[in-house]
Amino acid sequence: MPLPKAELHLHIEGTLEPELAFALAARNGVELPYADTDAIRAAYDFDDLQSFLNLYYELMAVLRTERDFADLADAYLARAAAQGVRHAEVFFDPQAHLARGVSMETVVEGLWRALGESETRHGVSTRLIMCFLRDESAESAMDTLMAAKPYLDRITGVGLDSAEVGHPPVKFREVYETAAALGLRRVAHAGEEGPPEYVTEALDVLGVERVDHGLRCLEDPALVARLVRDRIPLTVCPLSNVRLRAVPDLAAHPLPAMLDAGLLCTVNSDDPAYFGGYVDDNFRALNLPEERQRELARNSFLASFLEDDEEKRAR
Ligand code: ADE
Ligand code: ZN
Repeated sequence: MPLPKAELHLHIEGTLEPELAFALAARNGVELPYADTDAIRAAYDFDDLQSFLNLYYELMAVLRTERDFADLADAYLARAAAQGVRHAEVFFDPQAHLARGVSMETVVEGLWRALGESETRHGVSTRLIMCFLRDESAESAMDTLMAAKPYLDRITGVGLDSAEVGHPPVKFREVYETAAALGLRRVAHAGEEGPPEYVTEALDVLGVERVDHGLRCLEDPALVARLVRDRIPLTVCPLSNVRLRAVPDLAAHPLPAMLDAGLLCTVNSDDPAYFGGYVDDNFRALNLPEERQRELARNSFLASFLEDDEEKRAR
């Protein structure tokens, strides 16, 4: 039996398996430039973050209706439950859909159809985190936040994703200030491909409570000391890091060293359809001693946005 755990770094669009992509393409009359599911899987040969993002955005073309978003999220939640996930904080990328003429209402209500039923259907509690695409403008991010205002009862927090290098957190200072004033929790990808300074900036300027990836903090001992002292969680994604070549292979993954340093790390799947495994596959790939795995599972609830400590400890 997989350990009970929370998943805190998961892009719902990154759970689109090739079989579902073709089913949705057929349902919506969308032509995919791939002959079959094998041809899509053959494209999972990434050099870096950008080469992955190109495919990730391309395949989103099949997501058009509320039902599509509900089917996508329900398929993820079923798989996650089978891997021991009891709580999932799910990222979504509205700008990638708005740009294709799909409305915020379609995206949020579609996802909510599955997330709202997840506890009874799958035994998985959920939160929704809306990400801004950092390679788009700050104005676009602010417009997106405003477009989400009618749905804030469904959205727990905001995040920052997409191509990191050249798009420092400071670009989104005002957007994050506004999000905070609206009562939203704040996270951001930082230190995946970008330098440790982006992690510091995400903390100082955006006020994030959790850092997604954060690997490159290891290049700055003072930053590591701060993350340890302030108990800032890092949502680490081992298979993603190998597939996107942030680390050469799993044996070289710094997660054990990060735990030894006292960092509050969690293990997550990021974009499991593309990176070769869901969250428990990530746990198993690391080949860690049982006690370390338990520590990671415990951390996942501690680092979550579940409201109260009672609830966290009970899991
Ligand atoms: N969008 C989806 N997955 C991502 C990742 N690993 N880094 C940045 N943006 C993403
Ligand atoms: Zn990510």
